Amino acid sequence: MAQINPSILSADFARLAEEAKAVEGADWLHVDVMDNHFVPNLTLGVPVVEALSKATDTPLDCHLMIEDADRWAPQYVEAGAGSVTFHVEAAAAPVRLAREIRAQGARASMALKPATPIEPYEDLLPELDMLLIMTVEPGFGGQAFLDIMLPKIRRTRELISKHGLELWLQVDGGVSASTIERCAEAGADVFVAGSAVYGTQDPADAVRALRARADA
Ligand code: DX5
Ligand code: ZN
Repeated sequence: MAQINPSILSADFARLAEEAKAVEGADWLHVDVMDNHFVPNLTLGVPVVEALSKATDTPLDCHLMIEDADRWAPQYVEAGAGSVTFHVEAAAAPVRLAREIRAQGARASMALKPATPIEPYEDLLPELDMLLIMTVEPGFGGQAFLDIMLPKIRRTRELISKHGLELWLQVDGGVSASTIERCAEAGADVFVAGSAVYGTQDPADAVRALRARADA
């Protein structure tokens, strides 16, 4: 079954606990950490993740869009994240980092920006619990889905199958009722949705509707 991870980036930051509770029933809560260096936007850090992890029973899927991921990622596990995604473009030693995150007891995930190909990282896939293919340039919610990423999703799914891995394949950016089916058909099984969930009157219902479309 498809997993739907609402992105708190599109929620009201003055009411984060309520906004997290509004999507209970979702598989994971996606938390976008931005440092104004790796991406041109600034969001939240370790103390807010720690507070959120106490405010909701939904496990946290932390997406780190930050430089020096090797140094910071382990702190997000300590803060309560169940899954930590670092960008390969920002990690000096991705294998060592993935092993460290797993050793701490969290799921290790690696993200690729749109211009980063999957092929050089084929041999790293067994070190990961999830791979994130960005379907927009990271930094902001509400951007248009990049159709040109569909072949990369498809090729990544083929590599996962070829190696017989359990790895989850996540897509993030512009995922909505009108794009989720194409992502699922290409092989994604974890879907991040910000504006398509929090931009609606009933976020919990939006999660159910997205899941139904992805599973159709
Ligand atoms: C963008 C973030 C996304 C963002 C997605 O850099 O990584 O998680 O919240 O927002 P939507 O779903 O509105 O594109
Ligand atoms: Zn994200």
